[in-house]
Amino acid sequence: MQTFLITGGAGFIGSNFIRYLFKKYEHCKIINLDKLTYAGNPDNLKGVDAHPGYRFVKGDICAEKIVEPLVQEADVVINFAAESHVDRSIGKPDDFIRTDVFGTFVLLEAARKFGIEKFIQISTDEVYGSTLGESFRETDPLMPSSPYSASKAGADRLAFSYFVTYDMPVLITRCSNNFGPYQYPEKLIPLFVTNALENNKLPIYGDGKNIRDWIYVEDHCRAIDVVLRKGSNGEVYNIGAGNEKNNLEITRFILDKLGKPDKLMTYVPDRLGHDRRYSLDWDKIKRLGWQPQHSFADAMTRTIDWYQNNRWWWEEIKSGEYLEYYKNHYTIEE
Ligand code: NAD
Ligand code: DAU
Repeated sequence: MQTFLITGGAGFIGSNFIRYLFKKYEHCKIINLDKLTYAGNPDNLKGVDAHPGYRFVKGDICAEKIVEPLVQEADVVINFAAESHVDRSIGKPDDFIRTDVFGTFVLLEAARKFGIEKFIQISTDEVYGSTLGESFRETDPLMPSSPYSASKAGADRLAFSYFVTYDMPVLITRCSNNFGPYQYPEKLIPLFVTNALENNKLPIYGDGKNIRDWIYVEDHCRAIDVVLRKGSNGEVYNIGAGNEKNNLEITRFILDKLGKPDKLMTYVPDRLGHDRRYSLDWDKIKRLGWQPQHSFADAMTRTIDWYQNNRWWWEEIKSGEYLEYYKNHYTIEE
């Protein structure tokens, strides 16, 4: 049975992926290497952390001494670790460059030194930049426009270079916007659901008409597994869901589900360099036999229910450091 090194496994997608792996491959071994930044939370792994095949290592992917022995032990490396929030990258890009680019380099170097069966780099659809026309295909040029997406693009191409130059078994995934349980409440959906539950304002950037393609996190996890099992080395796979919605549509869905009034919506100054629309062509992964299993409406309802039923998880987060960040981030006019 395989040993997985999952980096960033205490974050939103990484923790969902660890749950997915243990459900599907009960006897696998998982090493979760996570620095536990503000976004990393051991609570995300409650329950699975008791699995005999699970081991947590608190550490930085930039630290060669920590990374090397773990990579040596692993058959498969899946790199989720990143600074992941666009707004934070606009305020302070430093950690994005360090973790997303340099951290990926450290992991790739360790994999080169010790050999590995597969290295999956979790990239993002944001590396293509914005489009008002055609959906992006894997061969389209990259035009990232925030410090976050530029760092991710750097890591994406660096991973590819290790395939070309050193013949390493590297694969790259570029997924659209995820939603689901355990997503840090700074991202649109968990922020708006938890704010609405507390009768707080929902801060809509600009005109609210920016478009994202929303995918349920479980569908993303399955797609990564398909890429791992059936993908070809050196290839990039877009992962989308065909759920392109603007932010006002998302906001109204949340307010309707929770029976909250429109007056909670408030327009705030736009995000700097705000990408208007992300859109992916994901025919290539369809040809590997994957497609999303969850409809947008069902997955959103499930997600909203989860935040409603798991206040213990987000109420603690939405105090302390979180509040400090939001105080500096914007002022909401009453
Ligand atoms: P997240 O912010 O919830 O989690 C990131 C995790 O990485 C945290 O647990 C954090 O502690 C850890 N981390 C950060 N810096 C680290 C370091 N130097 N060393 C070790 N661990 C470190 O992010 P997420 O939303 O779960 O995203 C996971 C990955 O998926 C990221 O690479 C992101 O770019 C990519 N992605 C996210 C989405 C999305 O919609 N959320 C979509 C496509 C791709
Ligand atoms: O597309 C994939 C990417 O999706 C991932 O690579 C990133 O890690 C992830 O954070 C996400 O980036 P976005 O910037 O698209 O997600 P976010 O939830 O921050 O914002 C979604 C949209 O909602 C965007 O148009 C900005 C808007 N928004 C966001 C917040 C937090 C608001 O209008 N108000 C808000 O308070």
